[in-house]
Amino acid sequence: MNLPGVKVLHDEAAIAARVGELGTRITRDYQGKELVVVGVLKGSFMFFADLVRAIDLPISIDFLGVASYGGNTKSSGVVQLTSDLSHPITGKHVLLVEDIVDTGLTMRYLLDNLATRHPASLAVCSLLEKPARMRVPIEIVYLGFSIPDEFVVGYGLDHAQKYRNLGFLGILEGAV
Ligand code: XMP
Ligand code: MG
Repeated sequence: MNLPGVKVLHDEAAIAARVGELGTRITRDYQGKELVVVGVLKGSFMFFADLVRAIDLPISIDFLGVASYGGNTKSSGVVQLTSDLSHPITGKHVLLVEDIVDTGLTMRYLLDNLATRHPASLAVCSLLEKPARMRVPIEIVYLGFSIPDEFVVGYGLDHAQKYRNLGFLGILEGAV
């Protein structure tokens, strides 16, 4: 798909290569452990689907829904859990999978929330991070790409719910 106003940042091949590398590292790091891979909806859905196929372990999967309120292209840090996990994570190794860590406020909220359930471990895998906008430090153990301060769409990420079905990551020109 070629769209006016969307400039390719990372194409399908670059994404697939990076996701494969992350899957290999995760497979090695969680050998012999009971791993639950948790996707944060909706933005992570495409990354999540590719990532879990690159993990060669008997994992289980679960999802969280969050809504963060604010303007269209800026998140406010006011986060609401719109859908919770379907199973307890107490004593399990949890890998939280996000599309993007921007200010870090959403991830901070999710990590604090999940930590109260006493998982055996809790780590973050994010497809993207925007270091220029970071407000709270988040340790992203498994990172896809660091990106400039631009609004990114595609490969699950949206602008007003559109563009999620693009197979590549693109910059929405004129959005920031
Ligand atoms: P924070 O600031 O809490 O933001 O780390 C995380 C959430 O903000 C959204 N976000 C984006 N969504 N393109 C998007 O489609 C972007 O460039 C972008 N920057 C932030 C996203 O929902 C993420 O979960
Ligand atoms: Mg999101």
